[in-house]
Amino acid sequence: MLLCLCISLLLLLLSVPVVHSAYPTFNDDVLGLIVFKAGLIDPQSKLVSWNEDDDTPCNWLGVNCDPLSHRVTGLALDGFSLSGHVGRGLLRLQFLQSLSLSNNNLTGPINPDLPRLGGLRFVDFSHNSLSGSVPDGFFQQCGSLSYVSFAGNQLTGELPVSLSSCLTLTQLNLSSNQLSGELPSGLWNLRSLQSLDLSYNYFEGEIPLGVSNLYDLRSISLSNNRFAGELPGDIGSCSLLRLVDFSGNSFSGRVPETLQKLNSCTYLRLGRNSLTGFVPGWIGELRSLESLDLSANRLSGRVPNSIGSLDQLKELNLSTNQLTGGLPESISNCPNLVSLDVSSNRLTGNVPQWLFKTGSALQQLQVLDLSSNVFSGEIPSNLGSRSSILVLNMSRNQLFGPIPPSVGGLTMAHEVDLSSNLLSGSIPSEIGGATSLLELRLNHNSLTGNIPADIQKCSPLTALILSENNLTGQVPAAMANLSSLQFVDLSSNNFTGSLPKDLTNLSHLLSFNVSHNSLEGELPVGGFFNIISPSSISDNPSLCGAAVNRSCPSVHPKPIVLNPNSPNSSQSPSAAASNLSHRKIVLSISALIAIGAAAFITLGVIAVTLLNIHVRSSMSRNPPAVTFSAADDYSCSPSTDPNYGKLVMFSGDADFVAGAQALLNKDCEIGRGGFGIVYKTSLRDGRSVAIKKLTVSSLTKSQDDFEREVRNLGKARHFNLVALEGYYWTPSLHLLIYEHISSGNLYKHLHDDSNCLTWRQRFGIVLGMARGLAHLHQMKIIHYNLKSSNVLIDECGEAKVGDYGLARLLPALDRCVLSGKIQSALGYMAPEFACKTVKITEKCDVYGFGVLVLEVVTGKRPVEYMEDDVVVLSDMVRGALEDGRVEECVDEKLKGNFPAEEAIPLVKLGLICASQVPSNRPDMEEVINILELIQCPADGGQEVG
Ligand SMILES: *[C@@H]1O[C@H](CO)[C@@H](O)[C@H](O)[C@H]1NC(C)=O
Ligand SMILES: *[C@@H]1O[C@H](CO)[C@@H](O)[C@H](O)[C@H]1NC(C)=O
Ligand SMILES: *[C@@H]1O[C@H](CO)[C@@H](O)[C@H](O)[C@H]1NC(C)=O
Ligand SMILES: *[C@@H]1O[C@H](CO)[C@@H](O)[C@H](O)[C@H]1NC(C)=O
Ligand SMILES: *[C@@H]1O[C@H](CO)[C@@H](O)[C@H](O)[C@H]1NC(C)=O
Repeated sequence: MLLCLCISLLLLLLSVPVVHSAYPTFNDDVLGLIVFKAGLIDPQSKLVSWNEDDDTPCNWLGVNCDPLSHRVTGLALDGFSLSGHVGRGLLRLQFLQSLSLSNNNLTGPINPDLPRLGGLRFVDFSHNSLSGSVPDGFFQQCGSLSYVSFAGNQLTGELPVSLSSCLTLTQLNLSSNQLSGELPSGLWNLRSLQSLDLSYNYFEGEIPLGVSNLYDLRSISLSNNRFAGELPGDIGSCSLLRLVDFSGNSFSGRVPETLQKLNSCTYLRLGRNSLTGFVPGWIGELRSLESLDLSANRLSGRVPNSIGSLDQLKELNLSTNQLTGGLPESISNCPNLVSLDVSSNRLTGNVPQWLFKTGSALQQLQVLDLSSNVFSGEIPSNLGSRSSILVLNMSRNQLFGPIPPSVGGLTMAHEVDLSSNLLSGSIPSEIGGATSLLELRLNHNSLTGNIPADIQKCSPLTALILSENNLTGQVPAAMANLSSLQFVDLSSNNFTGSLPKDLTNLSHLLSFNVSHNSLEGELPVGGFFNIISPSSISDNPSLCGAAVNRSCPSVHPKPIVLNPNSPNSSQSPSAAASNLSHRKIVLSISALIAIGAAAFITLGVIAVTLLNIHVRSSMSRNPPAVTFSAADDYSCSPSTDPNYGKLVMFSGDADFVAGAQALLNKDCEIGRGGFGIVYKTSLRDGRSVAIKKLTVSSLTKSQDDFEREVRNLGKARHFNLVALEGYYWTPSLHLLIYEHISSGNLYKHLHDDSNCLTWRQRFGIVLGMARGLAHLHQMKIIHYNLKSSNVLIDECGEAKVGDYGLARLLPALDRCVLSGKIQSALGYMAPEFACKTVKITEKCDVYGFGVLVLEVVTGKRPVEYMEDDVVVLSDMVRGALEDGRVEECVDEKLKGNFPAEEAIPLVKLGLICASQVPSNRPDMEEVINILELIQCPADGGQEVG
């Protein structure tokens, strides 16, 4: 309470103009500091020693006093975690010379009056959160300011004009703010300036002439701004310059010759600009140079020999230019060279042997980056003698030959990258000597042989990238000892065997890619392998486990080798179909009658109201006009492939001993289609499967593509889909293994006289088909080949949609081939198949589904051929609907045993689905909703049959 009162009193006092020694009972310094403290938040109580009751502040933390006068001369509160504003209290400290508040969280503007403290020379506010502009007043009354750093704040605006009048300034650091605008030429009036750092701002424009006025300048950094134009031509006159950093701007033109006069310069950075011309030969005269960065410009020509004269040089970066020729051997004379980066140029010749010569001057070399050039030849065999190396990058060149065993001599190396060359031979087991390795990249070469078990000695390894080689053998169990591994890429090799179980111990793994190999057996279970992405293990046909969606057999049966018969030549299109093609019927689908939207809706079917408004309106606006030519679609017929080889069945989850013979046995044939013959067989465990032997001839998809597609199909598990259980592939024989559904297909159930499905069964089948299709569409699979013979009915009367997605196995989605394949689907095929410009989408399945609905309700085939007439089912039903006689269309076999309140909307739904224009058809999710609404509530919804 007392303190508060006291502080408010002080604040009151301070608001009157500063009057020196007006309050003898208070030490002005105590007063000022207490007021200053009052404006701060001090979370770490750093200023706890600042006590207003003290007579003198000289013992307070961070306060320095003159030993004689006991007045405060310095304040050093760096890194005290203070926040708040820099208050006016400091203005009481009349003898302050040095004010250092760096690395706090101070906010607000810079107080322009501080330099009025006439003795203030040193101001460091760097690394706070000060905002606003650099106040003009600050430098106007600059007093004896010498060192000013506002680096690392959030200052905005332009440099104040008054800056040029602050002639006492020797060091100005405004780096890392958001300052902008052009440099005022008055800047070069600051004759005493020794160090100028304006880096990391948004300054722009050209550098004004006159920097040569700054005789005392030792260091200038304008890096990482937006400066343009040429580098200042007169800078060479600043002969004391040691540090020149103009990197990260848009400077253009050549490296100015005047720089050659800077013979004290140790640090010359001109990288990341747009400089052109050559690397000047005179660069060798800058004998003091320790760091030379000309990277990321447009420099061309050769690397000058004179670089070898730079005997202080530690760091040379010529990366990302257009340099040509070889690397001059003179570089080996630079005894202090630590980092040599010439990557991303067009350098040629062999990888310099001298880089690795024992006894050469290059004893300090730690970073060697020759990547992305055109170096060729073999990697020098004495590579490992340069044991100081931490980073070795020779990737993206044309190096050939083996990786020398001496690579193991790189005992300190963190990173070795030899990727994207033409290296051959095996990975030397000596690699285990590189015991500091964090990253080893050998991908994209032609390496052969195994991964040496000695790799386990590289225990800190985090990244092991060996993809795209011809490596073979097993993934060594020893790899499981590399417990720091995060990134492993072994993809696109020829690794075999199973993955070591212990790999699950690698607890830091972030990626593990073994795709495109020949791995087999069970994937490790646990750890990272529970969340491994399918793409990381894809294309290992014999790998099993949950992640590949393939269960592992408990026993591995021996491979069975068979020579099945060559296929029967009767695989040509079915007789009916070829008849058809001769008749060259042109079906003009009269659906051209748009479903009169109005007629429909006024009938008041709830179902229809669910359809989108836009569907309706576009339906009524655009009566579709599509003609469908059957003749075109038969112009290419499938041919058969005489080239049958051996059938090799590997272990999978299917054991085929009995089944294999079935393929030889015509009695086991249960069906034929455009894609091949279907056989029934049973597995050892007694389960029946249907095996589809694909007609290989037209399936010229690569093995990879084929397997990817089939595996994708295999993922589409649903109660209303016939499950794809597996597949086999040899170049001449492709098998798809499906779950076997015993009770035959929908076609048989509808059109065989011996069968009669009840209305409930029919409705259940329609709903089941809809659910199966909706699931396929959700999985982004288009069926393409929907027809009643592809819908199987199980013992319980449930519909199971089969044969989905096979069109994707064709090399291209060629409609000609496709319609040849699915010709028997005539009548189910959406009209857009005939129209080459219309994209085929899931809506083509909706069309087929619509026709199926009509087929199920009416018991009639989609197209019936009479003497000299063709009846298209949907036309017929549509006509009946328009005439109000829909009920007459319902299958006579039902003998009137059906609820009209279900049958009529169902017919309408079928017609909407079979709309000519794809966008008029609902999607399958909508169809399911509609069906569930149509279904009479009394039936309880679920019951079937
Ligand atoms: C600044 O404040 C933030 C939280 O507001 C804190 O995390 C940070 O460490 C502070 N910085 C300094 C330099 O004290
Ligand atoms: C300027 O300040 C920044 C940030 O504190 C520092 O990194 C830099 O070295 C300083 N520049 C000079 C020339 O001292
Ligand atoms: C060389 O310069 C490039 C581009 O400026 C930079 O990316 C690279 O890290 C530098 N090399 C070294 C070794 O510092
Ligand atoms: C791997 O070996 C095969 C057969 O020897 C060859 O055709 C292929 O080009 C090689 N692949 C690589 C990446 O070297
Ligand atoms: C992979 O290795 C097997 C034998 O181990 C060989 O038959 C096959 O050709 C190899 N594949 C490639 C792509 O080199």
